Amino acid sequence: MGRFRQTWIGLVSEVSWRLPGWPVKLLTAFGQAERGSFYDMLAAAEATDRPDLRRKYFEHALDESQHAIYFRDRVMALGGIDRARAAMEEAGALTSRGIVGGESLYERLGEIDFLAFVHVAEAEAIEQFSVYCDRELPDPETIAMLQKIMPDEKFHTAYPLHELEQRRKQGKGKQVDTALRRVKWNRLKEGWLRFSRDVGHVMSSVWLFLLYAILIPPFSLLGKVERGGWQAPRRDRRPLAVAARSQG
Ligand SMILES: [Fe+2]
Ligand SMILES: [Fe+2]
Repeated sequence: MGRFRQTWIGLVSEVSWRLPGWPVKLLTAFGQAERGSFYDMLAAAEATDRPDLRRKYFEHALDESQHAIYFRDRVMALGGIDRARAAMEEAGALTSRGIVGGESLYERLGEIDFLAFVHVAEAEAIEQFSVYCDRELPDPETIAMLQKIMPDEKFHTAYPLHELEQRRKQGKGKQVDTALRRVKWNRLKEGWLRFSRDVGHVMSSVWLFLLYAILIPPFSLLGKVERGGWQAPRRDRRPLAVAARSQG
């Protein structure tokens, strides 16, 4: 993707970070992704039978947990959420992302596809955060936070790549290439679906606005209240107990 993706992210970020309420929305989404990644890595640490990889997955999980806290703190600093709501949302996060249908991402993909996924996803995150840093969006505090987490993200993309190269040396090059191709294709497809959904939301808002602004108003000119239609409620001034007895 490289240059095309960077240009696209740059163009979109110039608009999205400046829309009212969107910095909170985007930072919340990043925080949730970091939280989901924490669960994925923790589950992988538990499932792998390689002690050296277990250690790396576990370190990775701890980093992602810390990143989720950084993002949540930025959201709270921007007034997007209070501490109580943040705790409530966190409580439901495990079932809504990370472990889906009782199966972790590692279990669903298997080790080679999982490593390919982690490498590609982390490389894309670095690319995305770098564009925000270059454009100094959305604000200096968030940029400082992104720069703080960047070395961790570089570790997250480097060790899976090293692992995949080891597999290549073991004669599993074809399997590695297929896994990388599959992950990239799936992420492209998911990105397209997300984009289509967002366009759908915008278009439905536009059509509903036009419907309410152009089509509905003429009916308000023709319409009038029927005789005996709207009436102010009659107030019964008797004490409640007396009124209730008279109904019985
Ligand atoms: Fe992260
Ligand atoms: Fe990461």
